[in-house]
Amino acid sequence: MTVRPPRNDVSLQRTLRVELGARSYPIRIGPGLLHGPLPVGDLQGRPQKLITDENVAAHYLDAALAGFRLTREDALVLPPGESLKTWASAGRVLDWLLAARLPRDGIVIALGGGVIGDLAGFCAAIYQRGIDYVQVPTTLLAQVDSSVGGKTGVNHPAGKNLVGAFHQPACVLVDTATLVTLPRRELLAGLAEVIKYGMLADSLLFEWLESNLDRLLALDNLFLTEAIERCCSIKSRIVGRDERETGSDRALLNLGHTFGHAMETHTGYASLLHGEAVAIGLCLAADLSMRQGWISPAVALRCRRLIERTGLPTDPPRGMSVADFHRHMGLDKKVKAGKLRLVLMRKLGEAVLTSEFDPALLDETLTAACSDG
Ligand code: NAD
Ligand code: GLY
Repeated sequence: MTVRPPRNDVSLQRTLRVELGARSYPIRIGPGLLHGPLPVGDLQGRPQKLITDENVAAHYLDAALAGFRLTREDALVLPPGESLKTWASAGRVLDWLLAARLPRDGIVIALGGGVIGDLAGFCAAIYQRGIDYVQVPTTLLAQVDSSVGGKTGVNHPAGKNLVGAFHQPACVLVDTATLVTLPRRELLAGLAEVIKYGMLADSLLFEWLESNLDRLLALDNLFLTEAIERCCSIKSRIVGRDERETGSDRALLNLGHTFGHAMETHTGYASLLHGEAVAIGLCLAADLSMRQGWISPAVALRCRRLIERTGLPTDPPRGMSVADFHRHMGLDKKVKAGKLRLVLMRKLGEAVLTSEFDPALLDETLTAACSDG
Protein backbone atom coordinates (compact mmCIF):
# COMPACT_ATOMS: atom_id res chain seq x y z
CA MET A 1 0.00 0.00 0.00
CA THR A 2 1.37 3.42 -0.88
CA VAL A 3 0.61 6.04 1.69
CA ARG A 4 -0.07 9.57 0.55
CA PRO A 5 2.84 11.62 1.88
CA PRO A 6 1.58 13.76 4.75
CA ARG A 7 2.32 17.45 4.84
CA ASN A 8 5.58 18.08 6.65
CA ASP A 9 3.94 20.51 9.06
CA VAL A 10 6.88 22.40 10.54
CA SER A 11 4.55 24.26 12.91
CA LEU A 12 3.83 20.98 14.69
CA GLN A 13 7.48 19.96 15.01
CA ARG A 14 9.04 19.77 18.47
CA THR A 15 12.65 19.18 19.51
CA LEU A 16 13.90 17.78 22.80
CA ARG A 17 17.43 16.97 23.90
CA VAL A 18 18.70 14.01 25.82
CA GLU A 19 21.40 15.60 27.99
CA LEU A 20 24.30 13.20 28.39
CA GLY A 21 27.35 15.47 28.03
CA ALA A 22 29.33 14.45 24.96
CA ARG A 23 26.67 11.85 24.14
CA SER A 24 23.75 14.34 24.11
CA TYR A 25 21.39 14.22 21.15
CA PRO A 26 18.19 15.73 19.80
CA ILE A 27 14.82 14.03 19.44
CA ARG A 28 12.80 15.65 16.67
CA ILE A 29 9.08 14.92 16.60
CA GLY A 30 6.42 15.86 14.06
CA PRO A 31 4.08 14.61 11.35
CA GLY A 32 5.56 14.21 7.88
CA LEU A 33 9.14 14.61 9.10
CA LEU A 34 10.29 11.92 6.68
CA HIS A 35 8.80 13.79 3.75
CA GLY A 36 10.70 17.03 4.08
CA PRO A 37 14.30 18.16 4.42
CA LEU A 38 15.55 15.93 7.24
CA PRO A 39 16.58 17.88 10.34
CA VAL A 40 19.79 15.94 10.93
CA GLY A 41 22.29 18.81 10.75
CA ASP A 42 25.83 17.85 9.80
CA LEU A 43 25.06 14.12 9.88
CA GLN A 44 23.67 14.58 6.37
CA GLY A 45 27.04 14.87 4.63
CA ARG A 46 28.42 11.60 6.03
CA PRO A 47 28.25 8.09 4.45
CA GLN A 48 25.07 6.32 5.53
CA LYS A 49 23.50 2.87 5.37
CA LEU A 50 19.89 2.19 6.23
CA ILE A 51 18.46 -0.93 7.91
CA THR A 52 14.75 -1.62 7.88
CA ASP A 53 12.22 -4.45 7.67
CA GLU A 54 9.91 -5.50 4.85
CA ASN A 55 6.71 -4.10 6.39
CA VAL A 56 8.23 -0.71 7.03
CA ALA A 57 10.04 -0.67 3.68
CA ALA A 58 6.74 -1.19 1.86
CA HIS A 59 5.50 2.16 3.20
CA TYR A 60 8.49 4.34 3.97
CA LEU A 61 11.69 3.15 2.29
CA ASP A 62 11.36 5.45 -0.73
CA ALA A 63 10.70 8.50 1.40
CA ALA A 64 13.57 7.71 3.75
CA LEU A 65 15.99 7.09 0.88
CA ALA A 66 15.00 10.38 -0.71
CA GLY A 67 15.24 12.22 2.60
CA PHE A 68 18.70 10.89 3.41
CA ARG A 69 19.73 11.19 -0.27
CA LEU A 70 20.51 7.48 -0.56
CA THR A 71 19.92 4.87 -3.26
CA ARG A 72 18.34 1.43 -3.01
CA GLU A 73 21.83 -0.12 -2.71
CA ASP A 74 22.29 1.76 0.55
CA ALA A 75 19.42 -0.12 2.23
CA LEU A 76 19.23 -3.56 3.79
CA VAL A 77 15.65 -4.82 4.06
CA LEU A 78 15.22 -7.65 6.58
CA PRO A 79 12.25 -9.87 7.42
CA PRO A 80 9.97 -8.43 10.14
CA GLY A 81 9.41 -9.73 13.64
CA GLU A 82 11.03 -10.42 17.00
CA SER A 83 12.70 -13.56 15.60
CA LEU A 84 14.98 -11.19 13.65
CA LYS A 85 16.65 -10.01 16.85
CA THR A 86 19.37 -12.66 16.93
CA TRP A 87 23.12 -12.88 16.94
CA ALA A 88 22.87 -14.42 13.45
CA SER A 89 20.99 -11.37 12.13
CA ALA A 90 23.56 -9.08 13.70
CA GLY A 91 26.22 -11.06 11.85
CA ARG A 92 24.31 -10.60 8.60
CA VAL A 93 24.04 -6.85 9.11
CA LEU A 94 27.74 -6.55 10.01
CA ASP A 95 28.73 -8.61 6.93
CA TRP A 96 26.67 -6.24 4.78
CA LEU A 97 28.16 -3.10 6.35
CA LEU A 98 31.67 -4.48 5.88
CA ALA A 99 30.98 -5.49 2.28
CA ALA A 100 29.64 -1.98 1.66
CA ARG A 101 32.82 -0.59 3.27
CA LEU A 102 30.98 1.82 5.52
CA PRO A 103 33.80 3.88 7.04
CA ARG A 104 34.20 4.71 10.73
CA ASP A 105 32.63 8.14 10.26
CA GLY A 106 29.66 6.44 8.58
CA ILE A 107 26.16 6.34 10.05
CA VAL A 108 23.65 3.51 10.40
CA ILE A 109 20.02 4.55 10.04
CA ALA A 110 17.49 2.36 11.86
CA LEU A 111 14.10 2.76 10.16
CA GLY A 112 11.43 0.70 11.92
CA GLY A 113 10.11 -0.50 15.25
CA GLY A 114 11.99 -1.59 18.34
CA VAL A 115 13.27 -4.76 16.70
CA ILE A 116 15.08 -2.87 13.95
CA GLY A 117 16.18 -0.15 16.37
CA ASP A 118 17.67 -2.62 18.85
CA LEU A 119 19.35 -4.72 16.14
CA ALA A 120 20.72 -1.86 14.02
CA GLY A 121 21.76 0.07 17.14
CA PHE A 122 23.63 -2.97 18.42
CA CYS A 123 25.41 -3.41 15.09
CA ALA A 124 26.36 0.29 15.15
CA ALA A 125 27.68 -0.23 18.71
CA ILE A 126 30.09 -2.95 17.69
CA TYR A 127 30.86 -2.18 14.02
CA GLN A 128 34.49 -1.04 13.95
CA ARG A 129 34.21 -0.63 17.76
CA GLY A 130 31.25 1.71 17.48
CA ILE A 131 29.91 4.18 14.95
CA ASP A 132 27.03 6.68 14.99
CA TYR A 133 23.45 5.72 14.28
CA VAL A 134 20.16 7.52 13.82
CA GLN A 135 16.87 6.14 15.10
CA VAL A 136 13.83 6.65 12.86
CA PRO A 137 11.17 4.83 14.93
CA THR A 138 7.93 3.88 13.18
CA THR A 139 5.95 2.15 15.96
CA LEU A 140 4.45 4.03 18.89
CA LEU A 141 6.44 1.81 21.28
CA ALA A 142 9.67 2.73 19.53
CA GLN A 143 8.71 6.43 19.35
CA VAL A 144 8.10 6.75 23.09
CA ASP A 145 10.52 4.20 24.44
CA SER A 146 13.00 2.00 22.59
CA SER A 147 14.50 4.64 20.25
CA VAL A 148 15.53 6.81 23.20
CA GLY A 149 18.10 5.88 25.82
CA GLY A 150 20.66 3.78 23.98
CA LYS A 151 19.71 0.25 25.03
CA THR A 152 20.61 -1.93 22.04
CA GLY A 153 20.90 -5.66 21.66
CA VAL A 154 19.62 -9.00 20.49
CA ASN A 155 17.91 -11.97 22.10
CA HIS A 156 19.62 -15.21 23.09
CA PRO A 157 18.05 -18.68 23.38
CA ALA A 158 18.54 -18.21 27.17
CA GLY A 159 16.36 -15.09 27.21
CA LYS A 160 15.32 -11.75 25.72
CA ASN A 161 17.82 -8.91 25.32
CA LEU A 162 20.60 -10.86 27.00
CA VAL A 163 23.30 -9.68 24.59
CA GLY A 164 23.72 -5.99 23.96
CA ALA A 165 25.37 -2.67 24.60
CA PHE A 166 24.50 0.81 25.75
CA HIS A 167 25.04 2.99 22.70
CA GLN A 168 23.24 6.32 22.41
CA PRO A 169 21.96 7.38 18.97
CA ALA A 170 23.25 10.58 17.35
CA CYS A 171 19.69 11.71 16.69
CA VAL A 172 16.10 10.42 16.87
CA LEU A 173 13.61 11.38 14.16
CA VAL A 174 9.98 10.65 15.03
CA ASP A 175 7.51 11.01 12.16
CA THR A 176 4.14 10.63 13.89
CA ALA A 177 2.41 10.17 10.52
CA THR A 178 4.05 6.76 10.10
CA LEU A 179 1.60 5.47 12.72
CA VAL A 180 -1.27 5.49 10.19
CA THR A 181 -0.06 2.23 8.68
CA LEU A 182 0.80 0.56 11.99
CA PRO A 183 -1.53 -2.39 12.76
CA ARG A 184 -4.06 -1.30 15.41
CA ARG A 185 -2.91 -3.94 17.88
CA GLU A 186 0.67 -2.64 17.69
CA LEU A 187 -0.57 0.93 18.18
CA LEU A 188 -2.45 -0.04 21.34
CA ALA A 189 0.59 -1.92 22.63
CA GLY A 190 2.55 1.33 22.34
CA LEU A 191 -0.25 3.20 24.08
CA ALA A 192 0.26 1.00 27.14
CA GLU A 193 3.76 2.47 27.43
CA VAL A 194 2.35 5.99 27.09
CA ILE A 195 -0.08 5.35 29.97
CA LYS A 196 2.82 3.86 31.93
CA TYR A 197 4.69 7.21 31.77
CA GLY A 198 1.68 9.04 33.21
CA MET A 199 1.32 6.53 36.03
CA LEU A 200 5.00 6.51 36.97
CA ALA A 201 6.10 10.08 36.47
CA ASP A 202 3.47 12.61 35.48
CA SER A 203 -0.05 12.83 36.89
CA LEU A 204 -0.81 15.74 34.53
CA LEU A 205 0.06 13.54 31.56
CA PHE A 206 -2.23 10.87 33.00
CA GLU A 207 -5.10 13.38 33.30
CA TRP A 208 -4.37 14.67 29.80
CA LEU A 209 -4.62 11.08 28.52
CA GLU A 210 -7.94 10.62 30.29
CA SER A 211 -9.23 13.71 28.46
CA ASN A 212 -7.64 13.10 25.07
CA LEU A 213 -7.49 9.33 24.61
CA ASP A 214 -10.01 9.45 21.75
CA ARG A 215 -7.88 11.98 19.83
CA LEU A 216 -4.87 9.68 20.17
CA LEU A 217 -6.86 6.65 19.08
CA ALA A 218 -7.98 8.69 16.05
CA LEU A 219 -4.28 9.37 15.29
CA ASP A 220 -4.66 13.12 15.50
CA ASN A 221 -1.11 14.34 14.77
CA LEU A 222 -1.32 17.31 17.10
CA PHE A 223 -2.18 15.04 20.02
CA LEU A 224 0.26 12.30 19.00
CA THR A 225 3.08 14.84 18.86
CA GLU A 226 2.12 16.15 22.29
CA ALA A 227 1.94 12.66 23.83
CA ILE A 228 5.21 11.49 22.30
CA GLU A 229 6.99 14.68 23.33
CA ARG A 230 5.80 14.32 26.93
CA CYS A 231 6.85 10.65 27.10
CA CYS A 232 10.24 11.28 25.49
CA SER A 233 10.80 14.16 27.85
CA ILE A 234 10.20 11.89 30.88
CA LYS A 235 12.42 9.18 29.44
CA SER A 236 15.17 11.71 28.55
CA ARG A 237 15.19 13.06 32.10
CA ILE A 238 15.41 9.59 33.62
CA VAL A 239 18.11 8.43 31.18
CA GLY A 240 20.01 11.67 31.86
CA ARG A 241 20.07 10.75 35.58
CA ASP A 242 20.76 7.01 35.24
CA GLU A 243 22.09 6.26 31.76
CA ARG A 244 23.22 2.68 32.47
CA GLU A 245 20.62 1.72 35.03
CA THR A 246 23.24 1.60 37.76
CA GLY A 247 20.95 3.50 40.13
CA SER A 248 17.27 2.81 40.66
CA ASP A 249 15.91 5.64 38.44
CA ARG A 250 15.92 3.91 35.08
CA ALA A 251 14.31 0.80 36.54
CA LEU A 252 11.22 2.97 37.25
CA LEU A 253 10.52 2.83 33.52
CA ASN A 254 9.67 -0.81 34.14
CA LEU A 255 6.43 -0.13 36.01
CA GLY A 256 4.20 -3.13 35.24
CA HIS A 257 7.03 -4.96 33.49
CA THR A 258 7.89 -7.61 36.11
CA PHE A 259 4.29 -8.84 36.01
CA GLY A 260 4.32 -8.36 32.23
CA HIS A 261 7.49 -10.39 31.69
CA ALA A 262 6.04 -13.21 33.80
CA MET A 263 3.02 -13.34 31.48
CA GLU A 264 5.15 -13.13 28.33
CA THR A 265 7.36 -15.98 29.54
CA HIS A 266 4.37 -18.05 30.62
CA THR A 267 2.71 -17.70 27.23
CA GLY A 268 5.97 -18.31 25.35
CA TYR A 269 5.92 -14.81 23.80
CA ALA A 270 3.23 -16.13 21.48
CA SER A 271 -0.16 -14.75 22.45
CA LEU A 272 0.55 -11.41 24.10
CA LEU A 273 2.40 -8.46 22.60
CA HIS A 274 4.86 -6.87 25.03
CA GLY A 275 2.67 -3.78 25.43
CA GLU A 276 -0.39 -5.94 26.12
CA ALA A 277 1.49 -7.75 28.89
CA VAL A 278 2.61 -4.35 30.23
CA ALA A 279 -1.01 -3.12 30.22
CA ILE A 280 -2.07 -6.02 32.45
CA GLY A 281 1.07 -5.54 34.55
CA LEU A 282 0.17 -1.87 35.07
CA CYS A 283 -3.24 -2.92 36.42
CA LEU A 284 -1.56 -5.39 38.80
CA ALA A 285 1.01 -2.81 39.94
CA ALA A 286 -1.78 -0.29 40.62
CA ASP A 287 -3.80 -2.91 42.48
CA LEU A 288 -0.87 -3.88 44.74
CA SER A 289 0.00 -0.21 45.33
CA MET A 290 -3.61 0.27 46.42
CA ARG A 291 -3.55 -2.75 48.76
CA GLN A 292 -0.35 -1.34 50.28
CA GLY A 293 -2.31 1.84 51.00
CA TRP A 294 -0.03 3.93 48.79
CA ILE A 295 -2.69 4.93 46.26
CA SER A 296 -6.42 5.18 46.82
CA PRO A 297 -8.92 2.70 45.35
CA ALA A 298 -10.16 5.59 43.18
CA VAL A 299 -6.70 6.11 41.63
CA ALA A 300 -6.22 2.36 41.04
CA LEU A 301 -9.62 2.30 39.35
CA ARG A 302 -8.72 5.30 37.15
CA CYS A 303 -5.58 3.45 35.96
CA ARG A 304 -7.57 0.34 35.12
CA ARG A 305 -10.35 2.32 33.44
CA LEU A 306 -7.96 4.24 31.20
CA ILE A 307 -6.32 1.00 30.07
CA GLU A 308 -9.73 -0.62 29.53
CA ARG A 309 -10.86 2.33 27.39
CA THR A 310 -8.00 1.70 24.93
CA GLY A 311 -9.17 -1.87 24.37
CA LEU A 312 -5.98 -3.30 25.90
CA PRO A 313 -6.31 -6.38 28.14
CA THR A 314 -6.43 -5.81 31.91
CA ASP A 315 -6.45 -9.37 33.30
CA PRO A 316 -3.84 -12.16 33.10
CA PRO A 317 -4.24 -14.87 30.45
CA ARG A 318 -6.84 -17.50 31.32
CA GLY A 319 -5.30 -20.45 33.14
CA MET A 320 -2.31 -18.56 34.53
CA SER A 321 -2.05 -19.17 38.29
CA VAL A 322 -0.54 -17.33 41.23
CA ALA A 323 2.13 -20.06 41.36
CA ASP A 324 2.96 -19.40 37.69
CA PHE A 325 3.48 -15.72 38.48
CA HIS A 326 5.75 -16.53 41.40
CA ARG A 327 7.80 -18.99 39.35
CA HIS A 328 8.44 -16.50 36.55
CA MET A 329 8.86 -13.43 38.73
CA GLY A 330 11.55 -15.20 40.77
CA LEU A 331 13.70 -15.10 37.64
CA ASP A 332 13.26 -11.36 37.13
CA LYS A 333 16.37 -9.18 36.65
CA LYS A 334 15.21 -6.97 39.52
CA VAL A 335 15.53 -9.81 42.05
CA LYS A 336 18.40 -8.74 44.35
CA ALA A 337 19.90 -10.85 47.17
CA GLY A 338 17.04 -13.30 46.69
CA LYS A 339 14.41 -10.58 47.26
CA LEU A 340 11.86 -9.68 44.62
CA ARG A 341 11.80 -5.95 43.89
CA LEU A 342 8.85 -4.38 42.13
CA VAL A 343 8.18 -0.95 40.69
CA LEU A 344 5.05 0.26 42.45
CA MET A 345 3.14 3.53 42.68
CA ARG A 346 3.61 5.84 45.68
CA LYS A 347 0.94 8.08 44.20
CA LEU A 348 -0.37 8.88 40.74
CA GLY A 349 2.70 10.10 38.82
CA GLU A 350 5.29 8.77 41.25
CA ALA A 351 6.85 5.30 41.27
CA VAL A 352 9.38 3.55 43.44
CA LEU A 353 11.53 0.43 43.03
CA THR A 354 11.05 -1.48 46.27
CA SER A 355 11.20 -4.82 48.01
CA GLU A 356 9.27 -3.25 50.92
CA PHE A 357 5.86 -4.59 50.02
CA ASP A 358 3.81 -7.13 51.93
CA PRO A 359 4.09 -10.55 50.17
CA ALA A 360 0.62 -11.44 51.47
CA LEU A 361 -0.78 -8.40 49.64
CA LEU A 362 1.05 -9.43 46.47
CA ASP A 363 -0.69 -12.80 46.77
CA GLU A 364 -4.03 -11.03 47.25
CA THR A 365 -3.45 -9.00 44.07
CA LEU A 366 -2.48 -12.07 42.07
CA THR A 367 -5.27 -14.24 43.48
CA ALA A 368 -7.90 -11.61 42.65
CA ALA A 369 -6.50 -11.12 39.13
CA CYS A 370 -6.06 -14.80 38.34
CA SER A 371 -9.59 -15.68 39.42
CA ASP A 372 -11.03 -12.76 37.38
CA GLY A 373 -9.05 -13.54 34.23
P1 NAD B 1 8.49 -4.38 15.97
O1 NAD B 1 9.72 -3.64 15.70
O2 NAD B 1 8.50 -5.84 15.78
O3 NAD B 1 7.31 -3.75 15.12
C1 NAD B 1 6.02 -4.32 15.20
C2 NAD B 1 5.48 -4.68 13.83
O4 NAD B 1 5.05 -3.50 13.16
C3 NAD B 1 6.49 -5.34 12.90
O5 NAD B 1 5.83 -6.31 12.14
C4 NAD B 1 6.94 -4.19 11.99
O6 NAD B 1 7.37 -4.65 10.74
C5 NAD B 1 5.67 -3.41 11.87
N1 NAD B 1 5.81 -1.97 11.63
C6 NAD B 1 6.66 -1.12 12.23
N2 NAD B 1 6.36 0.14 11.91
C7 NAD B 1 5.32 0.10 11.06
C8 NAD B 1 4.54 1.09 10.41
N3 NAD B 1 4.75 2.38 10.61
N4 NAD B 1 3.55 0.68 9.58
C9 NAD B 1 3.30 -0.65 9.42
N5 NAD B 1 3.97 -1.63 10.04
C10 NAD B 1 4.96 -1.26 10.86
O7 NAD B 1 7.97 -4.14 17.48
P2 NAD B 1 8.07 -2.93 18.50
O8 NAD B 1 6.92 -3.12 19.41
O9 NAD B 1 8.27 -1.63 17.82
O10 NAD B 1 9.43 -3.23 19.27
C11 NAD B 1 9.55 -4.38 20.09
C12 NAD B 1 11.02 -4.56 20.40
O11 NAD B 1 11.50 -3.40 21.09
C13 NAD B 1 11.31 -5.75 21.30
O12 NAD B 1 12.35 -6.49 20.75
C14 NAD B 1 11.75 -5.12 22.61
O13 NAD B 1 12.70 -5.91 23.30
C15 NAD B 1 12.36 -3.83 22.13
N6 NAD B 1 12.39 -2.76 23.15
C16 NAD B 1 13.55 -2.13 23.33
C17 NAD B 1 13.65 -1.10 24.26
C18 NAD B 1 14.92 -0.36 24.41
O14 NAD B 1 15.03 0.48 25.32
N7 NAD B 1 15.88 -0.57 23.54
C19 NAD B 1 12.52 -0.72 25.00
C20 NAD B 1 11.32 -1.39 24.77
C21 NAD B 1 11.26 -2.42 23.83
N1 GLY C 1 12.59 0.52 28.30
C1 GLY C 1 13.29 0.71 29.53
C2 GLY C 1 14.58 1.44 29.35
O1 GLY C 1 14.89 1.93 28.30
O2 GLY C 1 15.32 1.52 30.29
